[in-house]
Amino acid sequence: MPTQENKQGSRPKFFITTPIYYVNARPHLGHTYTTVAADTLARWKRMRGYDVYFLTGTDEHGQKIERSAAKAGKTPQEFAAGVSSEFRALWDRMGLTYDDYIRTTEERHKRGVQHLFTVLQERGFIYKGTYTGQYCVWDELYVEGPPGTACPDCGRITETVSEENYFFKLSAFERKLLEYYEQHPDFIRPEARRNEVVAFVRGGLRDLSISRTSFNWGIPVPGDERHVIYVWMDALANYITALGYGSDDPTLLEKYWPADVQLIGKEISRFHCVYWPAFLMAADLPLPKSIVAHGWLLFEQSKMSKSRGNIVRAETVLDVLGADALRYFLLREIVFGQDGSFSFDALVQRYNSDLANGYGNLVSRTLTMIVKYFGGVVPEAKTANYRYKENAVLTDACEGIGSVAHFQEISISIGFDNLDFSHALESAWSLIGSVDGFITASAPWKISESSDPKDRQYLAEILYTAAESIRIITALAYPVIPDAAAKVWRQLGLGDITQADLKELQWGGLKPGTKLGQLGPVFPRAEKDAITRMQELEDKYPAQTATETAKQVPAIPVTEVAIPALVTKETVDTHTTHPAAVAPTPPAPEAKPHAPAPAVDATPTLAAAENPKIAIEDFAKVELRVAIVRVAERVPKADRLLRLEVDLGYEQRQIVAGIAEAYTPESLIGRKVVIVANLAPRKLRGLESNGMIVAASVGEKGTPVLAGFLEDVEIGARLK
Ligand code: ME8
Ligand code: MG
Repeated sequence: MPTQENKQGSRPKFFITTPIYYVNARPHLGHTYTTVAADTLARWKRMRGYDVYFLTGTDEHGQKIERSAAKAGKTPQEFAAGVSSEFRALWDRMGLTYDDYIRTTEERHKRGVQHLFTVLQERGFIYKGTYTGQYCVWDELYVEGPPGTACPDCGRITETVSEENYFFKLSAFERKLLEYYEQHPDFIRPEARRNEVVAFVRGGLRDLSISRTSFNWGIPVPGDERHVIYVWMDALANYITALGYGSDDPTLLEKYWPADVQLIGKEISRFHCVYWPAFLMAADLPLPKSIVAHGWLLFEQSKMSKSRGNIVRAETVLDVLGADALRYFLLREIVFGQDGSFSFDALVQRYNSDLANGYGNLVSRTLTMIVKYFGGVVPEAKTANYRYKENAVLTDACEGIGSVAHFQEISISIGFDNLDFSHALESAWSLIGSVDGFITASAPWKISESSDPKDRQYLAEILYTAAESIRIITALAYPVIPDAAAKVWRQLGLGDITQADLKELQWGGLKPGTKLGQLGPVFPRAEKDAITRMQELEDKYPAQTATETAKQVPAIPVTEVAIPALVTKETVDTHTTHPAAVAPTPPAPEAKPHAPAPAVDATPTLAAAENPKIAIEDFAKVELRVAIVRVAERVPKADRLLRLEVDLGYEQRQIVAGIAEAYTPESLIGRKVVIVANLAPRKLRGLESNGMIVAASVGEKGTPVLAGFLEDVEIGARLK
């Protein structure tokens, strides 16, 4: 493990990466989430003495980007450069401490990718063949199924491509990968993702198409320039090309590779846990120590993503509450690895309770008392050989806090080391709670009224204990709230926290006699209007964030709920259309070129899809009824949504439907529609939707066409 110091006493290294983000979309909170987690871990490891290298960047090739650029009337180069610099500007504004920012359009990267391709070719893992099948441009994903198959993730209709391709012998790595997963239980984290990946590989791997000829925006295959290299091979290679793979300077590669932690969102586990290690094995390079897949940030109950149009910009939160508030919220509120919801309400509530009233208030009340009672100089404490008024209980309370701090430090460290940020923070804030309670119980303001020297000593004890706790809490919270921690560090009179040695935080490290710095608010309470201000900022931001691409999304079949990771990425009908994929494919070389890497997934969802027929009882569960639209109006900021009030005769109800791009509100009033009447209510854009309008999804764009009747049908009538 890289955690061991070598004999020369040099620092252990720690290489951490984020995915490189596609430049078709501007950064939103989803991207910020991963990058903030990586930054926190990088800071944590640095402060614990590691030589850290933190890599992030942008993924700029592929058909999706080429098309987005064309739409924007720009060359792909210009377009990519523009969005890439927006990502970078955001990370810089947030003060993220990345060491390198790689763009896949850079020469160093192109050279590295071509080198990798050549190495794999020389080692016999690449051959030429023909691929005919479906491809989702949006997800840059090969999809199994007949022409017209929709992409299971985004719902867009896939395109049929037929090309001569280079293939990577992925099938040759099935056994090796399974052995590797087996022998390295920490390679894929958390466990749930590991199990999915293992099940997927056990289902059999087929060779992967790694080149395209139908467009140009990519890295040419060396020696055969009609082909560009598959964007995922191109993108994954960034983790080594950034370290100089394929260049004549191997210094960084030798020093930092393999990566210690590669952070990703769970939807790209397959690329990182199957393809990526297979490429590395084929190139005879060591595998990363650990791929850690976190869950999805949900907003309005579905995955925050540009294609769904439900994004929140990090800038909005930065403008109103600042970067630390956002970092703290993301890491405290969501259990790392699981999905979690973002909302302005929850953000402001956490901010006020934990940051303003919790940490901020503890710092301010403690330091203000030190100013008031001790002239702004940290008083001396002598807990060990002193009994306040012979009262062991009171004295022990001070010592008690010292040991609580010690235990919480251990718990916080374990939390950070395991990327269990929410628990680390929970421990830190429970220490804040203990210190707060201790101050309230010992009521220093009362003791300050006495002139008895014993009381004076006790007052010193209390305030030293509180200040020393704040020092330890601040150091431990630094990776998450670096700006606030830096402020408090100065207020404690300790100078620049970035220069401080935070490797060991022994109790007693705060020297009595230290002169406090200038005091000032750390986390001022959020004003009442903070939520509306953020909402307004988002509303003001041109709807373009959602529209450009949302238009292509079929209106009805949009997935509103979070779906398990691997399931999202391939068709659900794999089993039926490609039964051969169920049995493990024998290892190459004689493996025939197939549709690349089919989805074989052992999740129950997919198992159910194996038998698409349902019994009449199942259909009877769906209550389809005729209703008439009484009210129809647009939903602000949601280009696709209409809010409808429909009348069933026996009941009036609200339904939010994604049909605004096909129907104007006026055209719907008085119209009879078919609804699914017994669908569980759900919220869209904060509006409760009670049921679903039935529509056909027509054409490439999945335009909704409402179901209706030639005869006049009574409202409330059931379809069966
Ligand atoms: O997939 N919740 O890029 P991408 C949590 N270029 N994380 C989210 C998120 C959300 N709602 N939305 C985005 C790509 N993310 C490829 C990667 S790597 C060699 C190539 C984060 O722009 C999360 O880390 O679609 C996710 O995996 C990543 O952004 C996807 O970014
Ligand atoms: Mg994505």
